[in-house]
Amino acid sequence: MNMGNKMTAANLRRAGRLSVAPMMDWTDRHCRYLHRLMSRHALLYTEMVTAPAVIHGDRDRLLGFDPAEHPVALQLGGSDPAQLAEAARIAADYGYDEINLNCGCPSDRVQSGRFGAVLMEDPALVADCCAAMMRAVDVPVTVKCRIGVDDQEPAMILPDFLARVSAAGVDHFIIHARKAWLQGLSPKENRDIPPLDYDLVVEMKGMFPGLNLAINGGIATLDDAQALLDRGLDGAMIGRAAYHTPSDILLDADARIFGSGMARNPSEIVHLMLPYIEAHLVNGGRLGQVTRHMLGLFQGRPGARGWRRHLSENVHENGAGPQVVLDALAHVTAQAA
Ligand SMILES: Cc1cc2nc3c(=O)[nH]c(=O)nc-3n(C[C@H](O)[C@H](O)[C@H](O)COP(=O)(O)O)c2cc1C
Repeated sequence: MNMGNKMTAANLRRAGRLSVAPMMDWTDRHCRYLHRLMSRHALLYTEMVTAPAVIHGDRDRLLGFDPAEHPVALQLGGSDPAQLAEAARIAADYGYDEINLNCGCPSDRVQSGRFGAVLMEDPALVADCCAAMMRAVDVPVTVKCRIGVDDQEPAMILPDFLARVSAAGVDHFIIHARKAWLQGLSPKENRDIPPLDYDLVVEMKGMFPGLNLAINGGIATLDDAQALLDRGLDGAMIGRAAYHTPSDILLDADARIFGSGMARNPSEIVHLMLPYIEAHLVNGGRLGQVTRHMLGLFQGRPGARGWRRHLSENVHENGAGPQVVLDALAHVTAQAA
């Protein structure tokens, strides 16, 4: 169990001004720990975990996290209200600050379970799921959705979706500003090919001024994020750019988005990760499980290639530990000198 400090709803809303998106296989606990060292305030999302996995699976493995990760939101996948409520209750007991329902993931596996993006076609079911989760937990329940799927007309169905789901009590949505095509596109293509429609999401804020609406999709820099906040949206969620160029996105986020700076640099972050890495190894973990999330730390900076190459070539050696990370860092320092 992990009962960290409970966030107030106002603090959580503030944290949501900038968030790191849920990304399967990427935003695991090690990644989130790293990101938290880089921004004290941004809201961090887990990978999606399905409700049946939470109920029947290895809970500590699926849900365990470090108290330093707060504020942290768990994303659930599912479409059975009772199961989702049970999973949300279990997750809230672990100390998550928010429970988010995935209504945006287009993968086949997810479609056959009738959850993820296909739920855009069934707002009544989404409302039931959220109502059941809200009865089960006292932390906020939020929804991450698309603007529509397949041949739905976003300008028609998105307001209807928001109206029906918010009538169940959800007041915070993260909208990935593109459709998902459930047939014919891979999940990866579904993150790039359907065109982005930021204007529609901004319009939703005009139609639903009382809702907390965050936007997601294609936000590549903090300038992009700020521009969208300046258009009246309540939050910007960043996925791939936060993962691949974490220093550009997260190190300045506190100063620029939250108005309270931390002024750390990527080398300091590496040093701050060392005790975490040591503890992970002592607990039987492997170095690469943590360092794979650190490969992008120096992206666009002198020495980035040497850093990445040294890590990639050496983390899997027998007995690899913090010294490998320090040796990789020497490539950066040598370039900077
Ligand atoms: C590797 C990867 C895994 C993802 N897994 C999830 C997921 O588990 N749940 C979810 O809602 N979205 C998932 N997404 C989608 C992202 O949350 C986000 O909506 C999408 O990448 C668009 O944002 P971006 O352009 O800032 O990356 C994933 C994206 C990537 C790249």
